[in-house]
Amino acid sequence: MTSVTKAAESEAYLKYKDPKLPINRRINDLLGRMTLAEKIGQMAQLDLENLTATTMRDYSIGSILSGGGHVPRLRATAGDWINKVNELQRASLSSRLGIPMIYGVDAVHGHNNVYKATIFPHNVGLGATRDKELVKRIGAATALEVRATGINYAFAPCIAVCRDPRWGRCYESYSEDPNVVIEMTDIILGLQGEPPANARKGVPYLGGRDKVAACAKHFVGDGGTTKGINENNTVIDWHGLLSIHMPAYYHAIIKGVNTVMVSYSSLNGKKMHANRDLVTGFLKNTLKFRGFVISDWQGVDKITDLPHSNYSDSLLAAIQAGIDMVMIPHNHTEFIDILTDHVNNNRIPVSRIDDAVQRILRVKFVMGLFEEPLADQTFVNQLGSQEHRDLAREAVRKSLVLLKNGETSDRPIIPLPKKASRILVAGTHANNLGYQCGGWSLTWQGFSGDNQTIGSTILSGIEEAVDPSTEILYSENPDPAFVKSSNFSYAIVVVGEPPYAETNGDSLNLTIAEPGPSVIADVCGQVKCVVVLVSGRPLVIEPYLPSVDAFVAAWLPGSEAGHGVADVLFGDYGFTGKLSMTWFRTVDQLPMNVGDAHYDPLFPFGFGLSTVPINAGLD
Ligand code: GLC
Repeated sequence: MTSVTKAAESEAYLKYKDPKLPINRRINDLLGRMTLAEKIGQMAQLDLENLTATTMRDYSIGSILSGGGHVPRLRATAGDWINKVNELQRASLSSRLGIPMIYGVDAVHGHNNVYKATIFPHNVGLGATRDKELVKRIGAATALEVRATGINYAFAPCIAVCRDPRWGRCYESYSEDPNVVIEMTDIILGLQGEPPANARKGVPYLGGRDKVAACAKHFVGDGGTTKGINENNTVIDWHGLLSIHMPAYYHAIIKGVNTVMVSYSSLNGKKMHANRDLVTGFLKNTLKFRGFVISDWQGVDKITDLPHSNYSDSLLAAIQAGIDMVMIPHNHTEFIDILTDHVNNNRIPVSRIDDAVQRILRVKFVMGLFEEPLADQTFVNQLGSQEHRDLAREAVRKSLVLLKNGETSDRPIIPLPKKASRILVAGTHANNLGYQCGGWSLTWQGFSGDNQTIGSTILSGIEEAVDPSTEILYSENPDPAFVKSSNFSYAIVVVGEPPYAETNGDSLNLTIAEPGPSVIADVCGQVKCVVVLVSGRPLVIEPYLPSVDAFVAAWLPGSEAGHGVADVLFGDYGFTGKLSMTWFRTVDQLPMNVGDAHYDPLFPFGFGLSTVPINAGLD
């Protein structure tokens, strides 16, 4: 071959772009071509809001996220999302080396940011199903709906082990029991696909264009903070950490999880975002995790404990700890300038930068991003598909936990008769799609009402399920005299907590939101009643139980709650759910977990009454 042809050949042929080459060779070839600026650009994840295509190109930005509720436009369609993602991806591809970006979103109970997406029950309810095969199917459905919008990375699953229901994120946890959480990591197999049996432990895996990169979060001990105070301090010995909060990470890594997100919380006084022993020493070196580690939203900025007294110190600590990609919703130039300075002044070795970039590139090569960086319309019909809504309905059914069913087991109230003269449906959560979805639904904090997306409210599900001859009256907060004089066959009272996310959900009293308790008193004191509780966790309910004939824990059942709740209330399906969280009597017992020496719950971990379906419906 002449020197000209070879030069032409070498110019046209870039090893890192050759899918026939082993990934490690492609990584090394590309890394060898990158400038420090391009490497640091790959370590930055910017938020969709205030982002420009020029920034993506000029800084070779590695990733974009949509923070909770950050969408191309209100009620954006799948096509709107695809256009926006592709616009930004084309900008990345137009950079000097054309490295594609990866787009992340909090698809934590379906593609919950997106209008008309299927919203599945939150994790606390999925834990109550004890059905890892169901959860794997939910992961696969979620991946399809995320891909329908052109996005390829989900910040899920949260594998926190919630040890105290006062924690505002307890509903994002599958259980207080690490063994239940381990089982639920099968959702990763749905989100990413199943690695081959001979896959090397710790290597990220992605099984195709209908799958998305997953993110095990928040590493580690986020669910064990003192009094459940969000982002606070988890005080625990090494055995406790390894037996409670770490096992699910081990299983997530074996299942090929692509990324791990670091927790805002501290471990025995040390911020996890600055914890080199655990992020590098244990996660990367001991557990052999070879995907990339991402910070939480402004997680670096929150490293405020001494000796870190400014962003520069915090960033130095975070990168030295082993964080590979930093979520930077604002001021990316500060991140780039300061990190560049740390490297140029030898405070951070280039080898640490190369480790981070190799991991990021490995995920991108594994995902096939270099071969197929742009989204198309292949999956748009998957968004909110009937098949997924039916799956969500099944998940609702299986997540509901029956805590009381009549005064004695031989005189159950449930299944309720579909044919009755008159039924009262009451309560703040009976006819509110937003309330039944909870936080991380359309917006970060969730919403109220039923105009922000589509689904079936609990009231509508009841209305559709009963016999046409049955009269249903709905009143959010009925007058007790009206209840007394209306001769109802029975009442269904749906109450609970309004939506919340993160610290906004921290609670020291864990009470049912007003006027729930008074609605229970006004209704259940006068007519046979079933209470359905819509909440992110166990709440104080003992005072109400004597006046209630039946009690159902519905958790945060999502967009398909209506049909799912009606299915089991009226006996088309039986109750099968089992508590994944201890149901305490009073908050002064907390924290109280299964296995504790002193354990005096109202309902223990694993409790749940069963009912036999009276119709054919079998899951
Ligand atoms: C949030 C959460 C994290 C989420 C991230 C991006 O603050 O802690 O779970 O993935 O920011 O929205």
